[in-house]
Amino acid sequence: MIFDEYSIKSQVRPVPNFPKPGVTFRDITPLYQSPRAMRMIADSLIQRYVDSPITHIGAIDARGFLLGAVIAYELNKPLVLLRKPGKLPADALRQSYQSEYGESALEIHRDALQAGDQVLLLDDLIATGGTFLAAARLVKQLGADVYEAAAIIDLPDLGGSRLMQDADIPTFTLCAFA
Ligand code: PRP
Ligand code: ADE
Repeated sequence: MIFDEYSIKSQVRPVPNFPKPGVTFRDITPLYQSPRAMRMIADSLIQRYVDSPITHIGAIDARGFLLGAVIAYELNKPLVLLRKPGKLPADALRQSYQSEYGESALEIHRDALQAGDQVLLLDDLIATGGTFLAAARLVKQLGADVYEAAAIIDLPDLGGSRLMQDADIPTFTLCAFA
């Protein structure tokens, strides 16, 4: 299925002043509710990575899990979870970060990755980049490499994708709201 950027963007709902005043929240639930949109997104990502050297999918809690599971299944790769704090039961590394509307942290199990692994990080959206930068730090702390960080949406005005490029994290998004 050919990727239709206009159709994808038109199904992202802007919600003013959520979760706090001044933030325009880009709600992707209509995309996830549309089998056609999900297929378009998944097909585009699968086509991009099917012949790549990635060894693992690193999916980011929570909206990135939904995408990550589909792509890991289709590419037949192990799915590694980067979770919000206090959710992973075994020995884990933690990295705190600042996002557009709050402070949080991500964790990864210490035995989830090892040196030489090539990880495709997946999430729904890049805003300030805090989440992806924290995820990339965790991947690198385990000796693995970030092959690319991919998301459906970039919000370039918030500077995250630029920060990620500056940090030498290859970054790919399917569309942007500038
Ligand atoms: C959102 C989004 C990204 C992150 C992007 O997640 O899904 O993970 O914010 O923002 P950043 O680029 O400024 O870090 P959120 O923390 O709201 O969690 P959720 O997926 O559980 O809704
Ligand atoms: N995560 C961080 N900023 C966001 C935004 N503006 N919309 C949706 N998710 C976000």
